Amino acid sequence: MGRGSRVRIPMATRNRNKIDEANYVLRDFGIELYPVNVEKLEIQSEDLEEIARFAALQAYQALGKPVVVEDSGLFIEALGGFPGPYSSYVYKTIGLKGVLKLMEGEENRKAYFEAVVAIALSERDVKTFVGRVEGRIAGEARGSHGFGFDPIFIPMGFDTTFAELGIEVKCSLSHRAKAFRAFGEWLRTNIDILSLWETP
Ligand code: IMP
Repeated sequence: MGRGSRVRIPMATRNRNKIDEANYVLRDFGIELYPVNVEKLEIQSEDLEEIARFAALQAYQALGKPVVVEDSGLFIEALGGFPGPYSSYVYKTIGLKGVLKLMEGEENRKAYFEAVVAIALSERDVKTFVGRVEGRIAGEARGSHGFGFDPIFIPMGFDTTFAELGIEVKCSLSHRAKAFRAFGEWLRTNIDILSLWETP
């Protein structure tokens, strides 16, 4: 890695927020992710890690080199972990209002976000990094930062939602930040792997 330069690594996503949040953390590791389009056939599973592994292999096969993928979701205790792996679909369909409605009158508001970062180094070697943040579901949507369920998620130790807190605080404690920090630490101790992406 040249002095001051960053190793650029492709990430298969259409979600700019995911890239921005990942880069917020990875800049400390001299890494910058950039988005690439990979046709995704998402498998149905209740296990985010399984989904992320599958996506990482698909992306590896499509691009012929390791590509970062990330799968995440919101797990609400009183709803038996719903929407979990279906978070993106639930957000697009019933949205924040629908989830708040399901939670009406519910006293147990415990929830967590989980993110799994995965990368295939070969057809047989997929690494995964998991991050989780505990919190609770707010009574109403608040705040304008971030994306998805940020306006209704209050991380533990706060009274404000992720959407009120903004990227700096979110990235000091979020599921995504933890997963990408683990990825960054792993790359730091496996520095040779960076040559897979560096241009000659
Ligand atoms: P996927 O990983 O692209 O399948 O989408 C995960 C979905 O979970 C997103 O579309 C959001 O609805 C939700 N989600 C995941 N991470 C976050 C987050 O950091 N904030 C808010 N919503 C999130």
